[in-house]
Amino acid sequence: MGQRLGEGWETLPPELLDAYDRWHLSTGYDTTLVRWLEGGMSEAPVALVAQFEPHVTSRQAVLKFMRDGPEAARRTRRALDHSPAEFRAAHLVELIGEAVPLDGWWMIQMEIAGGDRSTVRPLLDLLHRGGLTGACAVVTESVLGGWNPALAHRPLRMTAGAYLRSLLGDRLRPGSALSRWAAANGTAATVRWVPDGDGGQGLNPLALASGDESISLLVQRGRAHGDLNVRNVLLRGDDPRGFRLIDFGDFADDAPLARDPAHLLLSLAREWLGDLAVGSSARHALMVAVVTPGKSQAASVAGAKEAGEAFHDTAQRWADGTGFGEHWRLQALLSLIGCALIFTGRARLPDDVRRWFFDLAVYGTREYRRLARDLGEPQAPMSGRPGTSRPELGVPRSRAEIDAQLTKQMPFMQRTMGNKNGLVGTALELLDERERFVCLAPCRIRGGTPGSAVILVSDRYVRTAELDTQYQTSGVTRVAHGEIRELCLYPDRRLGLLDTADVRVATDTIELLARGLLRNQAEFLVASLEKLTGLRRREAEDGSVAAAWRDLVDALRDTRFEDGMSGDLAAGIESLRTALRRRRPPHPRNPDEVEGLVRHLNEILSGAASHAPPEQVSAARSSARLIRGRLLDLLTEARP
Ligand SMILES: Nc1ncnc2c1ncn2[C@@H]1O[C@H](COP(=O)(O)OP(=O)(O)O)[C@@H](O)[C@H]1O
Ligand SMILES: [Mg+2]
Repeated sequence: MGQRLGEGWETLPPELLDAYDRWHLSTGYDTTLVRWLEGGMSEAPVALVAQFEPHVTSRQAVLKFMRDGPEAARRTRRALDHSPAEFRAAHLVELIGEAVPLDGWWMIQMEIAGGDRSTVRPLLDLLHRGGLTGACAVVTESVLGGWNPALAHRPLRMTAGAYLRSLLGDRLRPGSALSRWAAANGTAATVRWVPDGDGGQGLNPLALASGDESISLLVQRGRAHGDLNVRNVLLRGDDPRGFRLIDFGDFADDAPLARDPAHLLLSLAREWLGDLAVGSSARHALMVAVVTPGKSQAASVAGAKEAGEAFHDTAQRWADGTGFGEHWRLQALLSLIGCALIFTGRARLPDDVRRWFFDLAVYGTREYRRLARDLGEPQAPMSGRPGTSRPELGVPRSRAEIDAQLTKQMPFMQRTMGNKNGLVGTALELLDERERFVCLAPCRIRGGTPGSAVILVSDRYVRTAELDTQYQTSGVTRVAHGEIRELCLYPDRRLGLLDTADVRVATDTIELLARGLLRNQAEFLVASLEKLTGLRRREAEDGSVAAAWRDLVDALRDTRFEDGMSGDLAAGIESLRTALRRRRPPHPRNPDEVEGLVRHLNEILSGAASHAPPEQVSAARSSARLIRGRLLDLLTEARP
């Protein structure tokens, strides 16, 4: 007759201990508590024990006491029974016997992962050591391919919204921790735009989850862990190939396969986040490294970028092998959005961490929209109404149609000064036959006089071009809607009494800056681009000088510097940036100040020149020159 031995069992409530003791009478072995195991993410007590029965049993084992119903125990058993033998033997921990009901609790007993707790460490321990990237790749590859050598379930056709809902389940219900957090932070699924944590606005991921865009993807399903995180993956020694999974009570054999890698990556991100100061630009850089490692340049998050790449590339390679590559790309991003919202809903996390995860979901939503557009998928605006399609903007490229549009878009003065006909001709020349004309506005591009250039929006592109007096175009720059990352409208009042505005359209590599548009035309143009791109203009109420300064400081901040090259530079720029974000000075108000600031910047750069690669210093110097030029330019114009 077996029994419980040793000290320390009082961690368990008395009625549970009592039930455990009664059950134990049915076994032949004794159980001695070695110690309680920390590090779990649930409240479940987990014990390391030694069990012994002469001639029969002598082992160490892990006991887990779970308060919930029998589901977790059943799914744990199911994971073992429904996994390929090879994967089970190499990567899962075996249960010992069946789950035991104990007075409202369930207990499972299992083997110790890897058999030797002194050499087995959670993936978490690699955070600040070499080998993390390799381990991430091995685990991702194996959890996808090794666990799912053949798929038992047909890919499921789903909209983005339906996919997110399937990941989030109950968490979207009113009253859930996620909904309460959202409400406390001024948002809900009905809010379309939310702050993106980087001074702009982005589409609300909760709105994406509640809507049903017409885009549909084929979701790959198969065996998955369900709570893959840095503590549930155990590694032995230096070779990640022998990793073990524990805590697989959320297993399913028809789970969306993109979820596990996304969840594991975000659990790593949560740990990295702890090393970065709240509100620092490195936190934003971490988001970029995790969601879009290819775009990450910040040296402060180089490790995260590498790990992010390992996840993305390994999983994508697996998916490409199935031929569903482009569908995977979308569901991988959606999985990051969904899992980030799951983290946002975790009440035990500090609020700044929950906020960061929500911001990451916003960033992911922006990237998702861009990717969906690039892949040429039709999509409705996020209206929440199923089945609506994108309104067709603009008119066909014909002289009469464009003429009629310009009559509406141009004020009396512009029309009667005789340039409307010329501009119709310009539009015809710039558009190709299949494009639809949306709008056009006279403007100027750096240095020119008002009306010496034009900005033109079609259903596919935005262009700027310079015009000569005969309306001949030159210097045409064209940007496809899908490439646009940022839309800005800077209201100003520069042409005497007329209200004017500047419009800035930026991609990763090109910036179109159209200046001195009539305010109404600028508004209409930016509103059209919002409809066409799904982007939202950046707020720039603090005036164009501060906005330009902020943009350039941001550009400078993003210039890549070696660690330790210039703490001064980083700190100086960072303090300017935060000051500007809070709309406090110092953004310069007169040319002397500009000269002073740029001089200071250059001094810092000279100091840095001895440590940093020359091309970085010269890139920073040219940013400084740009800041100087832009600010002097703007300040001169801004004066009455
Ligand atoms: N089979 C096992 N072998 C070795 N260590 C284990 C095993 N099961 C659990 N542990 C340890 O106990 C901790 C908590 O267990 P886990 O099942 O992950 O609980 P939770 O559901 O609370 O996350 C794990 O992080 C791990 O360190
Ligand atoms: Mg766990």
